[in-house]
Amino acid sequence: MCGIVGYIGEQNAAPILLSGLKKLEYRGYDSAGIAVQEESGIKLVKKEGKLNKLNEAAEKELFNGGTGIGHTRWATHGRPSDLNSHPHADSFSNIVIVHNGIIENFRELKDKLSAEGQDFVSETDTEVAAHLISYYYKDDLKNAVQKAVSELEGSFAMAVMSNTEKDRIIAVRKDSPLIVGIGDNENFLASDIPAYLDYTDDFYILENQEMADIKKDEIKVYSFTGELIADKKRTKIDWDSEMAEKQGYEHFMLKEINEQPESLKWLLQDRLVDGEIDLSESGLEKDWLSNYNKIHIVACGTAYHSGYLAKYLLEDMLKIPVEVEVASEYRYRNPLVDEKTLLIVVSQSGETADTIAALRLAKDMGAAVLALTNSRDSSIARESDKVIYLNAGPEIAVASTKAYTNMVAAFYMLAVDGMRQKKNIDPQKVKQYTADLIKLPELSRQMIVQSEEKIKNIAETYAKKSNIFFIGRNTDYTLALEGALKLKEISYIHAEAYPAGELKHGTLALVEEDVPVVALGSRIDIFSKLFSNLKEVKARGAETLLITIEGQSYDKESVDYVIELPELNQYFAGLLAIIPLQLLAYYTALICDKDIDQPRNLAKSVTVE
Ligand code: M6R
Repeated sequence: MCGIVGYIGEQNAAPILLSGLKKLEYRGYDSAGIAVQEESGIKLVKKEGKLNKLNEAAEKELFNGGTGIGHTRWATHGRPSDLNSHPHADSFSNIVIVHNGIIENFRELKDKLSAEGQDFVSETDTEVAAHLISYYYKDDLKNAVQKAVSELEGSFAMAVMSNTEKDRIIAVRKDSPLIVGIGDNENFLASDIPAYLDYTDDFYILENQEMADIKKDEIKVYSFTGELIADKKRTKIDWDSEMAEKQGYEHFMLKEINEQPESLKWLLQDRLVDGEIDLSESGLEKDWLSNYNKIHIVACGTAYHSGYLAKYLLEDMLKIPVEVEVASEYRYRNPLVDEKTLLIVVSQSGETADTIAALRLAKDMGAAVLALTNSRDSSIARESDKVIYLNAGPEIAVASTKAYTNMVAAFYMLAVDGMRQKKNIDPQKVKQYTADLIKLPELSRQMIVQSEEKIKNIAETYAKKSNIFFIGRNTDYTLALEGALKLKEISYIHAEAYPAGELKHGTLALVEEDVPVVALGSRIDIFSKLFSNLKEVKARGAETLLITIEGQSYDKESVDYVIELPELNQYFAGLLAIIPLQLLAYYTALICDKDIDQPRNLAKSVTVE
């Protein structure tokens, strides 16, 4: 989604803004721009397309000034174009702003401001905010911004400069994230931490409905109603900028796939005390399970797939009813929620708009909220009652990989911890499952090593296909969903996941000679059922790839390719099965020569509904 950067200090702002935008590229965008305060006024350049176009244009402008703001835009109101790109200015070129999010009442405001004589030049909702601030502007930018935001509806993060008050940036946050980086006689502003990790690790994370008045040697944070927040907490970020770089890999996605053994270790290490799972750091009581009679899991995309897998797991292992739903649906119905409901929201970014809305809805209805998120201080982390941090480190590629495995592993931990609380469970079983969890980092490393070359070969064939099916039963079906999403997201090849037994109720009509079918068979208890479905597609000429546990016996004639998973209990083997699917998506997209880290039309953090 859109990205915001800002700089104020002694250095030339333009290259710092451009480098910040580069670091935010991963969020997905279709145009970009910067504005810098110069002696003669605010100079602005903006371009549709990738950052290299903006860089070329900025070079010609010879920017020279120490205060500026910049933006990468992901179009919502108005198509991607130079004109619709940010920054936007008022009719007098006095107020210049960049904005993330959506201003929902922009039509009413536009009519009102047009009647006042303001001229609009773009199709965006953002331009309305520039004109509104201008309307209220007398001689103090903070006052004008404060008055304007009280009239804006929707979600927004904004950075605002005025031509008449040089060396000052006002930043506001409502529902859309914004952080202020603290430097030495210089300060930074960004919608996301990686933008300025090269410059500082010291940040103010703006809370909802806070605004920052930023000068080069001073930062003051206020509430939307104008009270100074004198005790605003500073946050030290312990990622180094190298963690957010590619470290020699061709793409962030491949780097992140390879980081999974390490990131699983990070997740587990803090939650294992004397060989037992301990989730007390997340605020979960020793007997949390007894407080609830049902669980709702709500998330989007890949995070939803991790929750779908968890439904099977938690119901089976804890015997508690679990519903799982995509957040954009959940938020617009009347879910049956009460004080005995545990809502689990799952989100890598912690800023997904639909997931936040679902969280608020269930919370208002009395549910206790547990978040599984990778982002400390994110909206979801702050608004939830309890949080299990995924500890996956920064995930930059739009396609989620290491965050997904840590989500699934976090659910495994939750399930084992829940099992421990049940009276009729053999403690040896809990011990065994905990020991299995501890093996996951090493087994995932082996999985990468063992499957990568094989997958590269398979990808050569898959890259030439236009339809690929993924089938599985039980937790394997949820892995099929994730494998299909990954493939279509980055290779743009149509991929569809089906519960294996459901195929013959319609979709089998599409299976013919050479159509690849990936069959997930990590569930040994129902392997024979899955394998009959595999035979059905083989009989129609499909090219089959089977992913199953080593040592499993089956009729080799029906299988064109096989990837074997190291032996592990069948509840947890799914986590290993996802690795070849991630690699398959990656190498297929690589052969298809696609923009792997930033697939078209997609964004890393989906902060609009
Ligand atoms: O940040 P979140 O986990 O809430 O994001 C949810 C989805 O947007 C995300 O998982 C998306 O589906 C990924 N691009 C898939 O790889």
